[in-house]
Amino acid sequence: MLVTAGATREPLDPVRYLGNRSSGRMGFALAAAAREAGAEVVLVTGPAALATPRGVERVEVERAEQMHEAVMARIEGADLFIGAAAVADYRPAQEAPEKIKKGSGPLTLTLEPTPDILRAVAARRPRPFVVGFAAETTDLLEHARAKLRDKGLDLVAANRVGPGRGLEVERNSLEVLAAEGEPVSLPEQPKEDLARALIALVAERLEAGGRA
Ligand code: C5P
Repeated sequence: MLVTAGATREPLDPVRYLGNRSSGRMGFALAAAAREAGAEVVLVTGPAALATPRGVERVEVERAEQMHEAVMARIEGADLFIGAAAVADYRPAQEAPEKIKKGSGPLTLTLEPTPDILRAVAARRPRPFVVGFAAETTDLLEHARAKLRDKGLDLVAANRVGPGRGLEVERNSLEVLAAEGEPVSLPEQPKEDLARALIALVAERLEAGGRA
């Protein structure tokens, strides 16, 4: 299996970047849980201050573009892809070659979209079983359902985020949705336990031949 984790960093100039609050903990926990369950695991991660789970191959990247390349170079033959990374949706259209100097007025940045890794993996034929994450501040289930349909996923794991919730914390809860059936609620618990529960759910589906 291949799992993405952590935040990407999109450079503005040689010293600054656009990033987000993802710690990488959920993706690392998923890699560890899948390894424990017997999978051969490649973990493609943005910069994260976390130890590599035992027996897992770690590939380090910074930008969304590099994460996309690293995933595409290794996806062939994978049975399962989990996109747990908080990938930047936009990057600065230009990376300044030198440090941007302070001026007196406002500074306007132009951003351009990054490649959507999850969508690209789900569009492959043949393709692995594809699990995405949806971190939302409002209308959790509606947004998650839309993401599942729009990106063509097999499962989406949705979690509420906001101050003290979801990101940079050790515990989380998930609503897991498939195209058919009711959502499965995984109650608030440490991310390590949540990861084991999600891997068990995915394994059930894989064994039932649930690949699209
Ligand atoms: O559309 P949104 O970014 O909210 O979707 C979140 C899901 O898509 C996560 O699973 C995330 O890892 C994945 N994603 C991705 N590549 C992007 C943006 C998001 O793989 N460029």
